Amino acid sequence: MCGIAGYIGDSPCEEILLQDLYKLEYRGYDSCGMALLCNKKIETIKAVGDISHLSSQIGGHDARIGIAHTRWATHGKCDICNCHPHLSMNGKWAVVHNGIIENFKEIKNTLLSKGYTFHSETDSEVIANSIQYHDKTTPIQAIIRAVRHMRGSFALAILNADNNKIYAAKRTSPLYVAHDGKCGYVTSDVATFIGKVAKYYRMEDNEFAIIDTQSVTFFNSSGQKITKELYSIGTEMELSSKGEYPYYMLKEIHDIPKALKNTYSHIKYSLDRTQLLKLLKGKKNIVFIGCGTAYHAGLHGAYYFEEIGYHTESFYASEFYYRKPRIDRTSVYILVSQSGETADTFACAKYIREHKGKIIAITNVPYCALNNLADMVVGTTAGKEYAVASTKAYNCQVIAMLTLAVIVKDIPVDYDRYIDRLQFDYDLPDITGYKKIFFIGRLADYITCMEGALKLKEITYINCSSIPAGELKHGTLSLIDDDTLTIAVCTNSDIFDKLRNNISEIRSRGGHVILITTLDDVDCDVDSIIRVARTSNEFDQISIIIPLQLLAYKTCITLGHDPDKPRNLAKSVTVE
Ligand code: F6R
Repeated sequence: MCGIAGYIGDSPCEEILLQDLYKLEYRGYDSCGMALLCNKKIETIKAVGDISHLSSQIGGHDARIGIAHTRWATHGKCDICNCHPHLSMNGKWAVVHNGIIENFKEIKNTLLSKGYTFHSETDSEVIANSIQYHDKTTPIQAIIRAVRHMRGSFALAILNADNNKIYAAKRTSPLYVAHDGKCGYVTSDVATFIGKVAKYYRMEDNEFAIIDTQSVTFFNSSGQKITKELYSIGTEMELSSKGEYPYYMLKEIHDIPKALKNTYSHIKYSLDRTQLLKLLKGKKNIVFIGCGTAYHAGLHGAYYFEEIGYHTESFYASEFYYRKPRIDRTSVYILVSQSGETADTFACAKYIREHKGKIIAITNVPYCALNNLADMVVGTTAGKEYAVASTKAYNCQVIAMLTLAVIVKDIPVDYDRYIDRLQFDYDLPDITGYKKIFFIGRLADYITCMEGALKLKEITYINCSSIPAGELKHGTLSLIDDDTLTIAVCTNSDIFDKLRNNISEIRSRGGHVILITTLDDVDCDVDSIIRVARTSNEFDQISIIIPLQLLAYKTCITLGHDPDKPRNLAKSVTVE
């Protein structure tokens, strides 16, 4: 959520920063900008909209030091005034910020009373003016003192007009630094380092850095120098590429078989079963926590673990955290997060940890804040996901939990043969004419409906919702008429008769119905049936979501929207 890049070195930096912003764009695309240090003067260029809007403004500056930002708006609308970088009142400091300064109003009022002026509605602008206010000794001391008064989260890259350096600071939001002896880089996503450096530093909370052309120096919050470990850029890091596909989302859906095989074999062959059993020893309850799509994957996990004898619960991370439930010694907490950065999920991990609970993190990245807090990390190894709407990562989260459950029970299975049966070529109907769409299913199919509805609303902006099929007659049936479409999902022959009754109730009221099923020979009065190859009871949930992901994609394209960059959203939600 929001992207930061910074460069200092011997090459003109505008194009380097622009290319970095393109790699970070999935984290936010409301507006973007750069601050460039040109002969002891900071120049800014800014644009509303995605990075392509900035490209026409670059090339006119002779700058070898610069910072850049792509924004997902939290405070203040998407206009030029609120676009980063923000300058201090005296123009000597430029700041790009990811995160939220929760007490920015207090700080702003104090600065206003001291005569400071502001040009934006953002929380970030107070950082630039606070640094100016504390600028009494050295630049790094000014930064350390300024952020000491701030509550909330930040990753910061900062320029000072009088120093040929980039300054960096971090609390909660991710930030990384690299140096090759001639050029220094700062970023909120290591992906921008690929092809430039082989190793990088991970900044930890309340650490600060000064980057110049020779090297990088790190400091703690008392201003003392600290030494830090270097990490290699893993071979799992990939450069962003859509390959033969017009959009990342379509590519990522077609990546599902490969991603599933990677995840399945990675867990099967590298997970330490003894360690897992030790973690689960004496535990009766498994609690699944996540947000959005990851929450839905956790719901499937709850089904799988219930089947092998555990009591299970599932929570939205944002609900769990503020409910402050008792952390129980007989529970294990499985936190699911593609990015491992999601603020709500991370807040739960901190809370569970503080209360001595045991955590298994299921993430799609080798390094992230969530992994750091976990007793055990289970990697989904789906490969990087760029489209904001999660697809392959979701399928991999579901197979990860299924694989965990079978490992616990030592059940011999071979999911590779099911993966080989996945279909991608469906004749999908045009549903763009509907203003109201419902998804209905029972048991695990209902979870798939939740995910199908989320995907559809996220990228098509059609108002749709998911309902357990049996609940329709308890209220929602009143919305059914001949303008509504219901998408019914069924993988379970034991409950098909009941679902067919629900479909009949919809048909009797003029509603349109599409049935998506893995069952053969179903006899049901619907507008159309989409048949999905049957695998097994558990694995069917992994295969039947694919036509729903493709239907969302197709509808989005027909409506003329960009599936990779849905409005108002961004990947990696690092604010609570
Ligand atoms: C929807 C989607 C989101 C994420 C959610 C959690 O397509 O991608 O709902 O699943 O924001 O993100 P992670 O998994 O990174 O914690």
